[in-house]
Amino acid sequence: MNRMMIYVMAVLLTSWAGAKPVTGDFLLQTKQSTMAFHKSGDSWQMVHYGTKIESAPDAAALAWSGWVGGNFFGHRKPDTYSVYGSDNDRRGTMNKFGGLAVIHADGVTSTDLKAVSVKTVDDKPGMTHLVFELKDRVYPFFVIQHFRAAVASDVIETWVEIRHDESASVKLIRMDSVALVFPLMAKEYHLLSLTGQWSSEGQLVEAPVALGQTVSMTSRSGVRSAFGNNPSFMLSVGERATETAGRVIGGALAWSGAWSISIQHDYVNALAINAGSDTGNGAYTLDAGKPLVTPKMALTYSASGKGQISRNLHRWARDHQLRDGHMLRPVLLNSWEGAYFDFDESTLTDMMDGVKELGGEMFVVDDGWFARGKYARDDDKRGLGDWVVNDKKLPKGLGSLAEEAKKRDLKFGIWVEPEMANTTSELVDSHPEWVLREKTRPLRQGRGGTQVVLDMTNPALRDNIYNQMDAMITSIPGLAYIKWDANADFMNPGSTYLGADRQPNLWYDYTAGLYDLLARLRVKYPDILMKACSSGGGHMDYGFLRYADEFWTSDDTDARQRVFIQWGAGHFYPACAMAAHVTGVPNHQTHRSTPLKFRFDVAMSGRLGFELHPKTMAPEEVVFAKQAVKDYKRLRPVIQQGDLYRLVSPWTHTYASLMYVNDDKSQAVVFLYGLNRPVMSDYPAPLMLQGLDINKRYRLTEINKEKRGHCRVSGKTLSGAALMGMGVPVKLSGDYDSAVFELVAE
Ligand code: GLA
Repeated sequence: MNRMMIYVMAVLLTSWAGAKPVTGDFLLQTKQSTMAFHKSGDSWQMVHYGTKIESAPDAAALAWSGWVGGNFFGHRKPDTYSVYGSDNDRRGTMNKFGGLAVIHADGVTSTDLKAVSVKTVDDKPGMTHLVFELKDRVYPFFVIQHFRAAVASDVIETWVEIRHDESASVKLIRMDSVALVFPLMAKEYHLLSLTGQWSSEGQLVEAPVALGQTVSMTSRSGVRSAFGNNPSFMLSVGERATETAGRVIGGALAWSGAWSISIQHDYVNALAINAGSDTGNGAYTLDAGKPLVTPKMALTYSASGKGQISRNLHRWARDHQLRDGHMLRPVLLNSWEGAYFDFDESTLTDMMDGVKELGGEMFVVDDGWFARGKYARDDDKRGLGDWVVNDKKLPKGLGSLAEEAKKRDLKFGIWVEPEMANTTSELVDSHPEWVLREKTRPLRQGRGGTQVVLDMTNPALRDNIYNQMDAMITSIPGLAYIKWDANADFMNPGSTYLGADRQPNLWYDYTAGLYDLLARLRVKYPDILMKACSSGGGHMDYGFLRYADEFWTSDDTDARQRVFIQWGAGHFYPACAMAAHVTGVPNHQTHRSTPLKFRFDVAMSGRLGFELHPKTMAPEEVVFAKQAVKDYKRLRPVIQQGDLYRLVSPWTHTYASLMYVNDDKSQAVVFLYGLNRPVMSDYPAPLMLQGLDINKRYRLTEINKEKRGHCRVSGKTLSGAALMGMGVPVKLSGDYDSAVFELVAE
């Protein structure tokens, strides 16, 4: 039994503590929402998800009242877990869709589940955990379905565990985490999601899901789970919601591999949501007795627009999903854009001096510090896989570098890319079988012409990487941070380990293997901060964020582009996890030059850091930066832990504005960014603040100020009611002018 299995078994065995049977209709409550379940014979339906209601009979009575008859939701049975092949409740039809599609050991292709038991089980405080134990009516085939409500943040996590005792293995053609059919809710739906790729992550798109359409999003990268589509969505139920009005269902799938999410607006106006890991090319082979746990899907509901969906997900992430969501993240300098591969020890210690002077708290060495001899990492063509220090560049070793950081009172971090190797490495020389490849085809190689993906399904490979990481970490006393990068997709989707009959298992097992490796490192090194990176924002997903504390938002560090990228990312992911670095100009990706103040103002709305050589900064820039870092550290609890309100969208205006408010509404920070202004008369309207306490009075102060101010009421004390009801008068002049305001209740 491998470790993943042991973990799964432990979950199965422990999760029944304090079980209380549920025998009739049940309301799963959060602070502001309800998911209602109705018992129908020996199966259960989800009959309401939305605004909070207190009466289960009301939910059951009203659920199908608008239904117009005819085909039963396009043959999709509205059970809590809609599966292919079930009988559609005495209507003589069969469910043709569903989130689970199985070929049983004897070749039968349908599955028909009944509820064997339903119960609530003990969980963390603030969580209500409902469990459905389902079994096929004929086969020893079992599904345990979880709905776990995080009460305070209005999020419901849901996933399933699939297991069977059939005479031989079964094939899973689909194995979704969620497959819900919603009763008639509205006549129109609008789907918002994020698209983009390298250097253009977080691009917002939104369109109606027209009657009869099924819209699906997917990633078949295998690795960069958030390129193309991010595994998350917001769905307006009825009219297209705004930031502050309208019914919205939000979702985020916690999975770092291939996945799919689909939204069906059925021709009788019902809605179906499916989401789960994607099996790529072919069915997953599941052996008897081996449970498979699907990724967790976080669902949330808001009756007051999209802004609340973001705040719900952020709060849930900080409270329950991120490894330590309440920790204040340090201000760090990452060496990449300041040095690339071209450094030696003195380059790095110079950078340390610089970040120390600016008030930073950590120094991170990016790519280029590892591998030896002919494979020494001097460019991206060699060395990945050999996690030993590059003694040509750093003869005194990593421990000595960490010591240098410590002398400057800085924490020390390092970059790795453990899932990949170059074919030019000692690792691949000695273990060519650890490379994903298809034995009859030429090997496709990625970055640098030599990069390949390692076979994370293979426990021997995982042990090797674990041991290399372990040795590296222990060689660096006090290592505080790891940037875990992954710069490839599945290019050769073949595993020597899995064998000929199980190649499609690669898509799930790779990610499960990756999580096993991450979990082992996490157990041994619980206090090391970790950043999820995958060619920039390719791991902006809640699966990786179970192990990591933050993500690299994008390799595009142009502050103007970052206004858009961070705007998108913030729809689903919290500011404390969103790494945003001030870089040099002209920007290395777009060649655009923006003022240092603008670059700071943009980076300060996330987890502030640097990615430049501080030596290149002019003395007056250093003065500005020092004050900005000082202010950021003071405001960090509000920005990293506060509630986000999006005030003005860069997608519809020539400027953008957002703000954060702390829990007791005693402090807030407002960011205002001028973009490209077509005419000088395009003045911003007063900023209608949100989230403040109408009964409190706030002193408004502009910070990060250069010569000119941007607000004539800076320094005044004003009521929350007026700030939200009348707005704050602001002024911008020219491209990339920007402002930051601090509000403190008196
Ligand atoms: C990726 C990352 C960058 C940097 C380089 C190093 O592109 O996104 O931040 O770490 O790799 O090779």
